[in-house]
Amino acid sequence: MPLFDVYPLYNVTPVSGKDMYVYDEKGVEYLDLYGGHAVISIGHSHPKYVKAITNQVSKLGFYSNAIQNPLQVELADKIEKLSGCKGYELFFCNSGAEANENALKLASFKTGKARVIAFNNSFHGRTSAAVAATDNKNIVAPINAQQQVTFLALNDIEGVKREVEKGDVCAVIVEFIQGVGGLDQGTAAFFEQVDALCKANNTYFIADEVQSGYGRSGKFFAFQYYNVTPEVISIAKGMGNGFPIGGILIHPNIEAKHGMLGTTFGGNHLACAAGLAVLNTIEEEKLIDNVNVISEYFISIAKTIPQIKTIKGKGLMIGLEFDFEIGDLRKKLIYEHHIFTGGASNKKLIRILPPLTIKKVHVNQFFEALKKTLVPIEVEK
Ligand SMILES: Cc1ncc(COP(=O)(O)O)c(C=O)c1O
Repeated sequence: MPLFDVYPLYNVTPVSGKDMYVYDEKGVEYLDLYGGHAVISIGHSHPKYVKAITNQVSKLGFYSNAIQNPLQVELADKIEKLSGCKGYELFFCNSGAEANENALKLASFKTGKARVIAFNNSFHGRTSAAVAATDNKNIVAPINAQQQVTFLALNDIEGVKREVEKGDVCAVIVEFIQGVGGLDQGTAAFFEQVDALCKANNTYFIADEVQSGYGRSGKFFAFQYYNVTPEVISIAKGMGNGFPIGGILIHPNIEAKHGMLGTTFGGNHLACAAGLAVLNTIEEEKLIDNVNVISEYFISIAKTIPQIKTIKGKGLMIGLEFDFEIGDLRKKLIYEHHIFTGGASNKKLIRILPPLTIKKVHVNQFFEALKKTLVPIEVEK
């Protein structure tokens, strides 16, 4: 049976991985500066992660959410401790889209309203309400388009005020650092005023931390750079280092009701074992400190490269914007220098989303390759 052909594929077949590298079937080593869309947080096949998952699957891989599961409680406590989000409660699911879908659903249930405010260039996933709040017409089917979503420009505080004061907005959903859209960010004043407007108008402020969360921004959550208190925080990618797991953190003022949200697989034993191994490693190896050290180093070198026109993002969620489209540059980095990088809807921007274990030597390897790649591109232009 052929695969439904929805993904444009690079001609590389990784079969194993170790920390910052993946290896193809011939043993060729590739430096991973993309982490499979920001998913690999503690490095490929981290020994503690492998051990935790192996131990757990040999005992109990799965049981449904109808029984006591102490691993869920342990993981929720650990997230509270490392994130500093005191008193928030956790609902588990399996992916980023599902996290946002549940966040929006919760906002709608609790406020009794249905319209959502989202921002230009946003990406929140491909399920019903999440994709409707995503600024990409090509992935919104007619069945999704019946959701009520208003898109505004980042920093358009007058627009947010005008819309939430109409009284029918259940949620404002935001990526504090845009991922797929290309690493743009709102200002502190904007985010803080949006937060206040939400509080004044019975509207939930949803922080989509699916990509920026779990230390990638240099803080546990990117919203923690600002003085805001989201009602709901959605998490996924870095949470399982590749094991599918997601969740939403829900503000202590929001009361749960049996049956309001639910899932078969979310928070299963194996997923929690993976999630705990990730957080224990982030803590033990002080990976958030490493994010900040390496980010500064990376940006200091990026600033010396004249072809890089703008550097966007925070921590290890970095966008390098050139004055030409970077499709060929990324191909050369993969096929000639064996380095994975990411693209964005901004076609001139490379996204750098490495495992949080990255060291200076990997940064040097990237910039040496980039410089070699840029010379012929300049000649061709
Ligand atoms: C900010 C953000 N939200 C949500 C999603 C959707 O996550 P998933 O692909 O796990 O459904 C993504 C995926 O790229 C994302 O970057």
